[in-house]
Amino acid sequence: MKAAILNGYSKSEYKIIVKDIPVPEINANEILVKIYTAGVNPLDNMIVKGEVKMIVPYKFPLVMGNEFVGIIEKTGANVKKLAVGERVYGRMPLNKIGAFAEYAAVDYRAVAKVPEYLSDEEAACVPLTALTALQALNLMNPKSGETIFISGGTGSLGAMAIPVAKSFGLRIITNGSAENAERVLALGADSFIDYRKEDYATVISNVDYVLDTLGDREIPREFSILKDGGKLVSLCGMPNGEFAVRAGLSAFKRILFKFAGRKYDKMASAKNQHYYFVFVHEDGTGLERISEIFADKYINASVDEVFSLDDVNKALNKVAAGKSKGKTVLRISE
Ligand SMILES: NC(=O)c1ccc[n+]([C@@H]2O[C@H](COP(=O)([O-])OP(=O)(O)OC[C@H]3O[C@@H](n4cnc5c(N)ncnc54)[C@H](OP(=O)(O)O)[C@@H]3O)[C@@H](O)[C@H]2O)c1
Repeated sequence: MKAAILNGYSKSEYKIIVKDIPVPEINANEILVKIYTAGVNPLDNMIVKGEVKMIVPYKFPLVMGNEFVGIIEKTGANVKKLAVGERVYGRMPLNKIGAFAEYAAVDYRAVAKVPEYLSDEEAACVPLTALTALQALNLMNPKSGETIFISGGTGSLGAMAIPVAKSFGLRIITNGSAENAERVLALGADSFIDYRKEDYATVISNVDYVLDTLGDREIPREFSILKDGGKLVSLCGMPNGEFAVRAGLSAFKRILFKFAGRKYDKMASAKNQHYYFVFVHEDGTGLERISEIFADKYINASVDEVFSLDDVNKALNKVAAGKSKGKTVLRISE
Protein backbone atom coordinates (compact mmCIF):
# COMPACT_ATOMS: atom_id res chain seq x y z
CA MET A 1 0.00 0.00 0.00
CA LYS A 2 1.03 3.64 -0.46
CA ALA A 3 1.89 5.54 2.71
CA ALA A 4 3.38 8.96 3.58
CA ILE A 5 6.52 8.35 5.63
CA LEU A 6 8.60 10.69 7.79
CA ASN A 7 12.16 9.48 8.37
CA GLY A 8 13.29 12.11 10.88
CA TYR A 9 12.39 15.52 12.29
CA SER A 10 13.04 18.47 9.99
CA LYS A 11 12.77 22.13 11.01
CA SER A 12 13.06 23.70 7.57
CA GLU A 13 11.36 21.68 4.82
CA TYR A 14 8.81 18.96 4.45
CA LYS A 15 10.54 15.75 3.43
CA ILE A 16 7.70 13.29 3.60
CA ILE A 17 8.15 10.45 1.15
CA VAL A 18 5.24 8.53 -0.36
CA LYS A 19 6.23 4.89 -0.86
CA ASP A 20 4.93 1.32 -0.85
CA ILE A 21 4.92 -0.54 2.47
CA PRO A 22 3.05 -3.70 3.59
CA VAL A 23 -0.61 -3.41 4.63
CA PRO A 24 -0.59 -3.48 8.48
CA GLU A 25 -1.68 -6.57 10.44
CA ILE A 26 -4.42 -6.05 13.04
CA ASN A 27 -4.48 -7.28 16.64
CA ALA A 28 -7.60 -8.47 18.52
CA ASN A 29 -8.66 -4.90 19.46
CA GLU A 30 -8.08 -3.38 16.04
CA ILE A 31 -9.93 -2.89 12.80
CA LEU A 32 -8.33 -2.65 9.36
CA VAL A 33 -9.58 0.53 7.72
CA LYS A 34 -9.30 1.31 4.03
CA ILE A 35 -8.70 5.04 4.22
CA TYR A 36 -10.75 7.28 1.93
CA THR A 37 -9.79 10.72 3.23
CA ALA A 38 -7.56 12.20 5.94
CA GLY A 39 -7.61 15.65 7.53
CA VAL A 40 -4.37 17.65 7.50
CA ASN A 41 -3.70 19.68 10.66
CA PRO A 42 -1.18 22.16 12.08
CA LEU A 43 -0.35 19.22 14.39
CA ASP A 44 1.11 17.30 11.41
CA ASN A 45 3.53 20.16 10.78
CA MET A 46 4.42 20.25 14.47
CA ILE A 47 5.21 16.53 14.37
CA VAL A 48 7.48 17.01 11.32
CA LYS A 49 9.36 19.75 13.20
CA GLY A 50 9.69 17.68 16.38
CA GLU A 51 7.62 20.20 18.34
CA VAL A 52 5.51 17.63 20.19
CA LYS A 53 8.24 15.10 20.94
CA MET A 54 8.17 15.87 24.67
CA ILE A 55 4.50 14.88 24.75
CA VAL A 56 4.63 12.00 22.23
CA PRO A 57 8.07 10.71 21.24
CA TYR A 58 7.64 9.04 17.82
CA LYS A 59 9.99 6.46 16.31
CA PHE A 60 11.06 6.53 12.66
CA PRO A 61 10.14 5.61 10.00
CA LEU A 62 6.76 7.07 10.94
CA VAL A 63 3.58 6.81 8.88
CA MET A 64 2.12 10.32 9.20
CA GLY A 65 -1.49 11.37 9.66
CA ASN A 66 -3.69 11.95 12.70
CA GLU A 67 -7.29 11.59 11.51
CA PHE A 68 -9.12 9.62 8.87
CA VAL A 69 -12.39 8.54 7.27
CA GLY A 70 -12.62 5.06 5.78
CA ILE A 71 -14.37 1.74 5.53
CA ILE A 72 -13.80 -1.30 7.75
CA GLU A 73 -12.25 -4.19 5.82
CA LYS A 74 -11.42 -6.52 8.75
CA THR A 75 -12.17 -6.71 12.47
CA GLY A 76 -10.12 -8.21 15.33
CA ALA A 77 -11.47 -10.96 17.59
CA ASN A 78 -12.50 -8.54 20.40
CA VAL A 79 -14.37 -6.12 18.12
CA LYS A 80 -18.11 -6.67 18.66
CA LYS A 81 -19.82 -3.34 18.01
CA LEU A 82 -18.40 -2.59 14.56
CA ALA A 83 -18.68 -4.62 11.34
CA VAL A 84 -16.94 -4.96 7.99
CA GLY A 85 -18.32 -2.45 5.48
CA GLU A 86 -19.15 0.30 8.01
CA ARG A 87 -17.87 3.83 7.34
CA VAL A 88 -15.96 5.10 10.36
CA TYR A 89 -13.78 8.04 11.32
CA GLY A 90 -11.39 8.78 14.13
CA ARG A 91 -8.47 10.60 15.67
CA MET A 92 -5.63 8.05 15.42
CA PRO A 93 -4.37 6.81 18.81
CA LEU A 94 -1.55 9.07 20.06
CA ASN A 95 0.91 6.20 20.26
CA LYS A 96 0.09 4.82 16.79
CA ILE A 97 -0.74 7.43 14.17
CA GLY A 98 -0.69 6.65 10.42
CA ALA A 99 -3.75 8.04 8.63
CA PHE A 100 -1.82 9.21 5.54
CA ALA A 101 -1.85 5.71 4.03
CA GLU A 102 -4.15 3.47 2.00
CA TYR A 103 -4.80 1.27 5.06
CA ALA A 104 -4.46 1.65 8.84
CA ALA A 105 -4.85 -0.75 11.76
CA VAL A 106 -6.79 1.25 14.36
CA ASP A 107 -7.96 0.40 17.89
CA TYR A 108 -11.76 0.09 17.62
CA ARG A 109 -12.14 2.21 20.79
CA ALA A 110 -10.79 5.22 18.86
CA VAL A 111 -13.43 5.30 16.11
CA ALA A 112 -17.12 6.08 15.58
CA LYS A 113 -19.55 5.71 12.71
CA VAL A 114 -19.72 8.70 10.36
CA PRO A 115 -23.02 10.66 10.15
CA GLU A 116 -24.44 9.60 6.78
CA TYR A 117 -25.05 13.07 5.38
CA LEU A 118 -21.34 14.00 5.51
CA SER A 119 -19.23 13.31 2.41
CA ASP A 120 -15.83 11.66 2.98
CA GLU A 121 -14.14 15.05 2.60
CA GLU A 122 -16.53 16.77 5.02
CA ALA A 123 -16.21 13.97 7.56
CA ALA A 124 -12.42 14.33 7.48
CA CYS A 125 -12.86 17.82 8.98
CA VAL A 126 -14.44 16.45 12.13
CA PRO A 127 -12.60 13.99 14.42
CA LEU A 128 -9.46 15.75 15.59
CA THR A 129 -10.79 19.26 15.95
CA ALA A 130 -14.23 18.27 17.27
CA LEU A 131 -12.63 16.00 19.89
CA THR A 132 -10.21 18.80 20.82
CA ALA A 133 -13.17 21.10 21.42
CA LEU A 134 -15.07 18.44 23.37
CA GLN A 135 -12.05 17.63 25.57
CA ALA A 136 -11.51 21.36 26.23
CA LEU A 137 -15.19 21.93 27.05
CA ASN A 138 -15.28 18.91 29.36
CA LEU A 139 -12.45 20.54 31.35
CA MET A 140 -14.45 23.78 31.56
CA ASN A 141 -17.60 21.88 32.63
CA PRO A 142 -19.78 24.84 31.57
CA LYS A 143 -23.41 25.64 32.38
CA SER A 144 -25.91 26.55 29.69
CA GLY A 145 -26.13 30.33 29.21
CA GLU A 146 -22.51 31.04 30.16
CA THR A 147 -20.15 32.82 27.75
CA ILE A 148 -17.04 31.56 25.97
CA PHE A 149 -14.50 33.46 23.91
CA ILE A 150 -12.92 31.29 21.19
CA SER A 151 -9.83 32.97 19.73
CA GLY A 152 -9.11 32.43 16.02
CA GLY A 153 -12.49 30.74 15.54
CA THR A 154 -12.31 31.19 11.75
CA GLY A 155 -9.88 28.26 11.38
CA SER A 156 -10.52 24.54 11.13
CA LEU A 157 -10.59 24.20 14.93
CA GLY A 158 -13.21 26.93 15.25
CA ALA A 159 -15.38 25.26 12.60
CA MET A 160 -15.86 22.39 15.06
CA ALA A 161 -15.46 24.22 18.39
CA ILE A 162 -18.32 26.64 17.64
CA PRO A 163 -21.04 23.99 17.04
CA VAL A 164 -19.71 21.82 19.89
CA ALA A 165 -19.73 24.82 22.30
CA LYS A 166 -23.26 25.65 21.08
CA SER A 167 -24.35 22.11 21.99
CA PHE A 168 -23.37 22.94 25.61
CA GLY A 169 -25.75 25.95 25.45
CA LEU A 170 -22.93 28.51 25.54
CA ARG A 171 -22.99 32.07 24.22
CA ILE A 172 -20.04 32.32 21.84
CA ILE A 173 -17.84 35.29 21.01
CA THR A 174 -15.09 34.65 18.52
CA ASN A 175 -12.56 36.55 16.44
CA GLY A 176 -10.59 35.84 13.28
CA SER A 177 -10.25 36.87 9.67
CA ALA A 178 -13.12 39.02 8.34
CA GLU A 179 -13.65 37.00 5.15
CA ASN A 180 -14.85 34.07 7.27
CA ALA A 181 -17.19 36.08 9.53
CA GLU A 182 -20.43 35.00 7.86
CA ARG A 183 -19.42 31.34 7.94
CA VAL A 184 -18.67 31.30 11.68
CA LEU A 185 -21.86 33.25 12.50
CA ALA A 186 -23.82 30.64 10.50
CA LEU A 187 -22.12 27.92 12.56
CA GLY A 188 -23.58 29.39 15.74
CA ALA A 189 -21.21 32.12 16.96
CA ASP A 190 -23.23 34.92 18.60
CA SER A 191 -20.74 37.66 17.93
CA PHE A 192 -17.67 38.11 15.74
CA ILE A 193 -14.68 40.45 15.97
CA ASP A 194 -12.40 41.13 13.01
CA TYR A 195 -8.96 40.79 14.60
CA ARG A 196 -7.33 43.14 12.13
CA LYS A 197 -9.78 45.99 12.87
CA GLU A 198 -10.74 45.62 16.52
CA ASP A 199 -8.94 44.56 19.69
CA TYR A 200 -11.14 42.02 21.51
CA ALA A 201 -9.44 42.86 24.83
CA THR A 202 -10.93 46.37 24.72
CA VAL A 203 -14.50 45.29 23.92
CA ILE A 204 -15.03 42.07 25.90
CA SER A 205 -14.79 41.47 29.63
CA ASN A 206 -15.86 39.01 32.30
CA VAL A 207 -16.29 35.96 30.05
CA ASP A 208 -16.67 32.63 31.84
CA TYR A 209 -14.31 30.68 29.60
CA VAL A 210 -11.61 31.20 26.98
CA LEU A 211 -10.62 28.60 24.41
CA ASP A 212 -7.19 29.74 23.24
CA THR A 213 -5.96 28.74 19.76
CA LEU A 214 -3.23 31.38 19.45
CA GLY A 215 -0.83 30.65 22.30
CA ASP A 216 1.78 32.67 24.16
CA ARG A 217 1.36 36.05 22.42
CA GLU A 218 -2.37 36.21 23.27
CA ILE A 219 -2.71 34.35 26.58
CA PRO A 220 -2.07 37.37 28.90
CA ARG A 221 -4.74 39.38 27.05
CA GLU A 222 -7.10 36.41 27.09
CA PHE A 223 -6.72 36.21 30.89
CA SER A 224 -7.58 39.93 31.03
CA ILE A 225 -11.08 39.32 29.57
CA LEU A 226 -11.75 36.27 31.79
CA LYS A 227 -13.87 36.72 34.93
CA ASP A 228 -12.38 36.08 38.37
CA GLY A 229 -12.44 32.31 38.87
CA GLY A 230 -12.87 31.66 35.09
CA LYS A 231 -11.14 28.93 33.12
CA LEU A 232 -8.79 29.30 30.16
CA VAL A 233 -8.06 26.18 28.11
CA SER A 234 -5.16 26.57 25.70
CA LEU A 235 -4.40 24.42 22.66
CA CYS A 236 -1.19 26.27 21.82
CA GLY A 237 0.33 27.51 25.06
CA MET A 238 2.77 25.58 27.20
CA PRO A 239 1.66 22.34 28.85
CA ASN A 240 1.69 22.69 32.67
CA GLY A 241 2.03 20.33 35.62
CA GLU A 242 -1.75 19.72 35.78
CA PHE A 243 -1.67 18.55 32.15
CA ALA A 244 1.26 16.21 32.75
CA VAL A 245 -0.61 14.53 35.62
CA ARG A 246 -3.88 14.29 33.66
CA ALA A 247 -2.03 12.84 30.63
CA GLY A 248 -0.28 10.25 32.82
CA LEU A 249 3.22 11.45 31.87
CA SER A 250 6.35 10.34 33.73
CA ALA A 251 7.52 11.95 37.00
CA PHE A 252 10.34 13.65 35.09
CA LYS A 253 7.91 15.22 32.59
CA ARG A 254 5.59 16.28 35.40
CA ILE A 255 8.43 18.32 36.89
CA LEU A 256 9.46 19.62 33.47
CA PHE A 257 5.95 20.75 32.49
CA LYS A 258 5.27 22.17 35.94
CA PHE A 259 8.27 24.40 35.33
CA ALA A 260 7.33 25.13 31.67
CA GLY A 261 3.72 26.12 32.45
CA ARG A 262 4.32 27.99 35.69
CA LYS A 263 4.14 31.38 33.94
CA TYR A 264 0.48 30.73 33.01
CA ASP A 265 -0.36 29.12 36.35
CA LYS A 266 0.94 32.28 38.02
CA MET A 267 -1.10 34.55 35.71
CA ALA A 268 -4.20 32.48 36.51
CA SER A 269 -3.73 32.45 40.27
CA ALA A 270 -3.73 36.27 40.51
CA LYS A 271 -7.54 36.30 39.99
CA ASN A 272 -8.28 32.75 41.12
CA GLN A 273 -8.55 31.75 37.44
CA HIS A 274 -7.51 28.34 36.08
CA TYR A 275 -5.14 27.45 33.27
CA TYR A 276 -5.42 24.13 31.38
CA PHE A 277 -3.63 22.74 28.35
CA VAL A 278 -5.18 20.17 26.01
CA PHE A 279 -3.39 17.80 23.67
CA VAL A 280 -6.17 15.97 21.86
CA HIS A 281 -6.23 12.21 22.35
CA GLU A 282 -8.26 9.44 20.72
CA ASP A 283 -11.75 8.85 22.13
CA GLY A 284 -14.35 6.78 20.26
CA THR A 285 -17.02 7.43 22.89
CA GLY A 286 -16.50 11.20 22.64
CA LEU A 287 -16.66 10.91 18.86
CA GLU A 288 -19.98 9.04 19.07
CA ARG A 289 -21.33 12.06 20.97
CA ILE A 290 -19.93 14.34 18.24
CA SER A 291 -21.63 12.20 15.56
CA GLU A 292 -24.95 12.58 17.44
CA ILE A 293 -24.53 16.38 17.65
CA PHE A 294 -23.75 16.50 13.92
CA ALA A 295 -26.59 14.17 12.87
CA ASP A 296 -29.03 16.11 15.06
CA LYS A 297 -28.12 19.58 13.84
CA TYR A 298 -26.91 18.81 10.30
CA ILE A 299 -23.81 20.89 10.96
CA ASN A 300 -21.81 21.88 7.89
CA ALA A 301 -18.13 21.01 7.76
CA SER A 302 -15.95 23.45 5.79
CA VAL A 303 -13.48 21.83 3.40
CA ASP A 304 -10.81 24.23 2.20
CA GLU A 305 -8.68 22.35 -0.39
CA VAL A 306 -8.34 18.67 -1.31
CA PHE A 307 -4.95 17.14 -2.27
CA SER A 308 -3.89 13.63 -3.38
CA LEU A 309 -1.67 11.50 -1.12
CA ASP A 310 1.23 12.13 -3.53
CA ASP A 311 0.84 15.86 -2.83
CA VAL A 312 1.06 15.47 0.96
CA ASN A 313 3.98 17.96 1.22
CA LYS A 314 1.94 20.57 -0.70
CA ALA A 315 -0.96 19.98 1.69
CA LEU A 316 1.31 20.50 4.72
CA ASN A 317 2.67 23.71 3.18
CA LYS A 318 -0.86 24.94 2.57
CA VAL A 319 -1.73 24.38 6.25
CA ALA A 320 1.49 26.11 7.36
CA ALA A 321 0.72 29.15 5.17
CA GLY A 322 -2.48 29.96 7.15
CA LYS A 323 -5.42 31.84 5.56
CA SER A 324 -7.48 28.77 6.28
CA LYS A 325 -11.08 28.64 5.05
CA GLY A 326 -11.65 25.31 6.78
CA LYS A 327 -9.90 21.96 6.59
CA THR A 328 -7.20 20.83 4.17
CA VAL A 329 -7.95 17.22 3.22
CA LEU A 330 -6.12 14.35 1.48
CA ARG A 331 -8.22 12.14 -0.83
CA ILE A 332 -6.40 8.79 -0.53
CA SER A 333 -8.70 6.24 -2.20
CA GLU A 334 -12.24 5.94 -3.61
N1 LIG B 1 -3.48 21.02 21.36
C1 LIG B 1 -4.27 20.35 20.52
O1 LIG B 1 -4.65 19.20 20.76
C2 LIG B 1 -4.72 21.03 19.25
C3 LIG B 1 -5.71 20.44 18.45
C4 LIG B 1 -6.16 21.12 17.32
C5 LIG B 1 -5.59 22.36 16.99
N2 LIG B 1 -4.61 22.87 17.78
C6 LIG B 1 -3.98 24.16 17.47
O2 LIG B 1 -4.98 25.16 17.34
C7 LIG B 1 -4.51 26.16 16.43
C8 LIG B 1 -5.62 26.47 15.44
O3 LIG B 1 -5.81 25.33 14.63
P1 LIG B 1 -6.64 25.45 13.29
O4 LIG B 1 -6.67 24.09 12.68
O5 LIG B 1 -7.94 26.15 13.53
O6 LIG B 1 -5.69 26.43 12.44
P2 LIG B 1 -6.06 27.23 11.13
O7 LIG B 1 -7.09 26.44 10.35
O8 LIG B 1 -4.79 27.62 10.48
O9 LIG B 1 -6.84 28.55 11.65
C9 LIG B 1 -6.28 29.58 12.41
C10 LIG B 1 -7.25 30.78 12.31
O10 LIG B 1 -6.85 31.81 13.23
C11 LIG B 1 -6.92 33.07 12.56
N3 LIG B 1 -5.96 33.99 13.19
C12 LIG B 1 -4.63 34.14 12.95
N4 LIG B 1 -4.11 35.09 13.77
C13 LIG B 1 -5.13 35.56 14.52
C14 LIG B 1 -5.24 36.54 15.55
N5 LIG B 1 -4.18 37.25 15.98
N6 LIG B 1 -6.45 36.75 16.11
C15 LIG B 1 -7.54 36.04 15.71
N7 LIG B 1 -7.51 35.11 14.74
C16 LIG B 1 -6.32 34.86 14.16
C17 LIG B 1 -6.55 32.71 11.14
O11 LIG B 1 -6.95 33.72 10.23
P3 LIG B 1 -5.97 34.21 9.01
O12 LIG B 1 -5.01 33.08 8.70
O13 LIG B 1 -6.92 34.48 7.88
O14 LIG B 1 -5.27 35.41 9.52
C18 LIG B 1 -7.29 31.40 10.93
O15 LIG B 1 -8.63 31.61 10.53
C19 LIG B 1 -3.23 25.60 15.77
O16 LIG B 1 -2.12 26.25 16.32
C20 LIG B 1 -3.25 24.12 16.15
O17 LIG B 1 -1.94 23.60 16.29
C21 LIG B 1 -4.15 22.24 18.89
